[in-house]
Amino acid sequence: MTRTYKNIALEQVNITSPSFRANPFPIFKDWRHNRPVVPVKAFGQRAWLVTRYDDVLTTLTDERFVKNRRNATDGNKKPPQMWLPGFVRPLERNMLDSDNPDHDRLRSLVHQAFTPRLIAQLENRIHCLAHELIDKAIAKGEMDLIRDFALPIPMVVISEMLGVAEGDRDAFHRWSSVMVSVTKPMDGIFAIPSLYKLVKFLRRLLGEHRLKPQDNLTSALLQAEEEGSKLSEDEVVGMAALLLTAGHETTVNLIGNGVLALLAHPAELERVRTEPELMKSAIEELMRYTSPVLLATERYAREDIMMAGTTIPKSELVFAALGSANHDESKFENPESLILDRQNNKHVGFGSGMHYCLGAPLARLESSIAFQVLFERLPNLKLAISPENLHWNSSLIMRGVSSIPVKFVVL
Ligand code: HEM
Repeated sequence: MTRTYKNIALEQVNITSPSFRANPFPIFKDWRHNRPVVPVKAFGQRAWLVTRYDDVLTTLTDERFVKNRRNATDGNKKPPQMWLPGFVRPLERNMLDSDNPDHDRLRSLVHQAFTPRLIAQLENRIHCLAHELIDKAIAKGEMDLIRDFALPIPMVVISEMLGVAEGDRDAFHRWSSVMVSVTKPMDGIFAIPSLYKLVKFLRRLLGEHRLKPQDNLTSALLQAEEEGSKLSEDEVVGMAALLLTAGHETTVNLIGNGVLALLAHPAELERVRTEPELMKSAIEELMRYTSPVLLATERYAREDIMMAGTTIPKSELVFAALGSANHDESKFENPESLILDRQNNKHVGFGSGMHYCLGAPLARLESSIAFQVLFERLPNLKLAISPENLHWNSSLIMRGVSSIPVKFVVL
């Protein structure tokens, strides 16, 4: 049966389902050709999925698409939104959910901590961490690539940057993964206890740093709060939550999806192992090919917007399909091939415009060290289950699997 919303037929494909996430690319191709701005159901309402490369760039950079839904509605008219109790609202006070002038004010406060030069100083730490994780896996004789390697690398790094104690990290990850897997209003209701614990935990983290400042990002944010009108307490909570979540829920998918893609392409895997100079372009190609953040986060149309022959009505939800743009045949030659030395690779896996990923230098560094150490230490790594049995996470934004059992022989 066709679902309609205000007389417009919605696409039947459930874009959050594991089967869609496993391989969305043939469906994206069909939409790029036949329904380039396609109405789908997301968060329990109609949303418009933008699938062509140029339109995706427009959605990410044109000021008619806003992040804060209040900026897309008139005066008192309340925009549709998921209900959240006041206690967890600070989670929304972050740069990714803000338009200017708030966005630039918030971003400029942390921008310095993420410059490529400063991130490069983490190289040794990430190397040691990757080797420690492989040592542990070898000692145990078995490994789940997500649980034992792809997740701990970004998790430990961002936790250390913000001063989250080792004993708190697993709980923090549980709460944040509930947050990123909200796809419909009911999930939102069920997520409230986790969001509550997350905010409580962040307020405790801030309290501890207030009493005993440390040489880390959390103390730097608190200092910005104390220096006057730069940052409110809720904004510090929102910023810490965004950095901790975006800092690990994404990179885990680049490492996980990247390993899966390379295991499925043994010749390319061999090149990654033997041609270290290839790593830089290989990371960009794995970003493009696997698109670990499949859709950009939501935008709202500030006015009726005509795009690719379709009118997106004012104040409605819009998602830029980064994974579709990354496979757009009008921009990429042989988009369905994994070409590690692809030139001029203008993928949009890290977004574009003012919300372009703040952590891109960190994600690139973490994933290149992860691939290098993993394939150097475990050259005969293999999947322990068949690829059809991998479980793709149900999510709107992220694309990744929850577990990758692997086997290896130590030579
Ligand atoms: C492979 C890993 C990563 C991918 C694929 C990725 C992808 C993205 C994308 C697509 C956006 C833009 C979203 C939008 O416009 O709706 C974004 C924004 C952001 N990312 Fe990342 N990210 C990654 C790693 C990281 C890391 C390690 C951090 C570290 C803290 C981080 C922090 C952020 C922040 C703070 C924003 C918001 C920027 C703003 O609003 O100005 N990301 N990321």
